[in-house]
Amino acid sequence: MPGLPALFDLSGRVAVVTGGGGALGRVVAGALAGAGASVVVVDLSEDTAAKVAASLTGAGAGAGAPKAIGLGADLSIEDGAGAAQAGSLERVPAEGPELGE
Ligand SMILES: NC(=O)c1ccc[n+]([C@@H]2O[C@H](COP(=O)([O-])OP(=O)(O)OC[C@H]3O[C@@H](n4cnc5c(N)ncnc54)[C@H](O)[C@@H]3O)[C@@H](O)[C@H]2O)c1
Repeated sequence: MPGLPALFDLSGRVAVVTGGGGALGRVVAGALAGAGASVVVVDLSEDTAAKVAASLTGAGAGAGAPKAIGLGADLSIEDGAGAAQAGSLERVPAEGPELGE
């Protein structure tokens, strides 16, 4: 029987975590990154989103570690959701090529 990493291997996948700067969002983002996903952390606070993303790619991350980026956007309004989508599409390929797959 395959182990958990094989069952939940998200390598090559991109996860978008909304409210990613919050208590639950940080845990979810960390779990997804731990399973190999590249993570887009979106939060009202761009600073917080960037810090969470940095924590996922920080010291100790190996060469094959997942990439993460942080985006600030207000997802309660259509323009904010659109900006988050556009920001993901703009920044992901440049900052983590595997995110663009
Ligand atoms: N923490 C718990 O144990 C728990 C348990 C049950 C339910 N919940 C619910 O789950 C949700 C998240 O909980 P939490 O503890 O992570 O909350 P939190 O307040 O720690 O985090 C919420 C995050 O969402 C962000 N956010 C708020 N409005 C936003 C917007 N319009 N656009 C983008 N980002 C926005 C905030 O900046 C914050 O970083 C809440 O609705 C909470 O009521 C939490």
